[in-house]
Amino acid sequence: MNLPNLNEARKRTNKKVEIREDKYKLSNTQKAIGINKNYFIKTYGCQMNEHDSENIKAILNDMNFNETDTLEQADLIILNTCAIRENAHNKVFGLLGRIKHLKQTKEVMVGFGGCMAQEEVIVDEILNKYKWIDFVFGTHNIVNLPNIIENATNNKKQEIEVFSGEGEVIENIPVKRDNKYKAWVNIMYGCDKFCTYCIVPYTRGKQRSRLPKHIIDEVNSLIKEGYKEVTLLGQNVNAYGKDLEIDYTMANLLEDVAKTKIDRIRFVTSHPWDFNDEMIDIISKYDNIMPYIHLPLQSGSSKILKLMGRRYTKEQYLELFKKLKSKISNVAITTDIIVGFPNETEEDFNDTLDIVNTCKYDSAFTFIFSPRVGTPASKMLDSISLEIKEARLQKLNQLINKYSKENNDKYLNKTVSVLLDDYSSKKKDCLKGYTDTMKLVNVKADSSYLGKIVNVKITSIKTWSMDGEIVE
Ligand code: SAH
Ligand code: SF4
Ligand code: F3S
Repeated sequence: MNLPNLNEARKRTNKKVEIREDKYKLSNTQKAIGINKNYFIKTYGCQMNEHDSENIKAILNDMNFNETDTLEQADLIILNTCAIRENAHNKVFGLLGRIKHLKQTKEVMVGFGGCMAQEEVIVDEILNKYKWIDFVFGTHNIVNLPNIIENATNNKKQEIEVFSGEGEVIENIPVKRDNKYKAWVNIMYGCDKFCTYCIVPYTRGKQRSRLPKHIIDEVNSLIKEGYKEVTLLGQNVNAYGKDLEIDYTMANLLEDVAKTKIDRIRFVTSHPWDFNDEMIDIISKYDNIMPYIHLPLQSGSSKILKLMGRRYTKEQYLELFKKLKSKISNVAITTDIIVGFPNETEEDFNDTLDIVNTCKYDSAFTFIFSPRVGTPASKMLDSISLEIKEARLQKLNQLINKYSKENNDKYLNKTVSVLLDDYSSKKKDCLKGYTDTMKLVNVKADSSYLGKIVNVKITSIKTWSMDGEIVE
């Protein structure tokens, strides 16, 4: 294994991607490993990891493990980790402390996977300081979990399988979905954008698109199973197809998925760079493509955007934003913003506030820049204090919250369509769901409405959600 290396990593983009449909196999011995045993899984990070955990759960299911949500009852504990920022690391190490104590009181096998397992610094730390962790598996190695767990059971020594099998797209991994009505569908893996602050192109590898027919087949079988909504997943879905040897783009894929007639289609995440007019036309043409777009800004300063390697300017972003707003009726747009990128001046930060004031986002995820080992931005000298960065974050959040509230307030007394996808965690006798524009709504309704798309009149607006009543 090597440290993430930008120059080495860039060369990989020319490698040919192999589509494998034959990699998932289970022996009878492996199928018996989990009998009378429980597993506990903790997932950190983005939707990609959530969906990977759905694969991991299905594999453990095939090995006859049962899921438990109590750490203490587990015979096998799996951590599916995230490396995006330092605080993601810290949370994982916090839980590892608890697990270590547990392991002193009972026999339990511990597996460490996900994006942190793709970082050499972390794997070194596990080898040296966390010798009690039974196995480590990378983001490319999930399909091989039965072998990894079997080896860990037999050998009683730390198993580490983290390779960059990044030249492959693996089909036919089983999946145990968390929700019965809405599903994640991977359309591509990895990322080749190499934004200078970001660890993802290293932890997830080279961009690899799935073949259109595999995606469409998956959506069609989801429809047969009663699913109402799919979210097409990728770190940068707008670049879908660029690595395929056929002439087929994200606009083509969106149209073909729309033609399956599934009720609702979403997609994340959209890098502004690859968002073209064909895509916008398709989104506005098909009613089952939801009017909701996550369009990360990162910074409003063209100088900082350049240092981030985002390849668009403040003006280009605004132009795209306005086009989306004017061409897609009722579209909601959310974003991601980083403050405190190395040497971000007050003027740069004000540029960000300016854009927020112009775009009035429906909501936003905001972060303080966190240097990631091996990325170019981690080597940039930085003269701005943490105190200033924290003050900027707070100021930005206040502005974001103000516009979120204003956008939500517009929904009061309106009737909107909501897919009721689960019981409400907050309100008794209520179901919860999302509007087409991705607003969370709690609706007074009994379980017969689960999985239905209903018209809901919004009766009150909360900070992070809304309440509503079904109207027939
Ligand atoms: N592929 C998506 C982003 C995935 S990571 C995209 O390009 O939009 C989600 C968000 O985490 C990013 O949009 C960015 O705002 C934030 N992020 C990524 N690396 C970070 C870092 N080193 N420090 C702080 N925030 C970071
Ligand atoms: Fe990271 Fe940029 Fe790729 Fe998003 S597009 S995953 S921010 S490198
Ligand atoms: Fe985290 Fe990996 Fe996702 S770093 S944000 S879990 S791709």
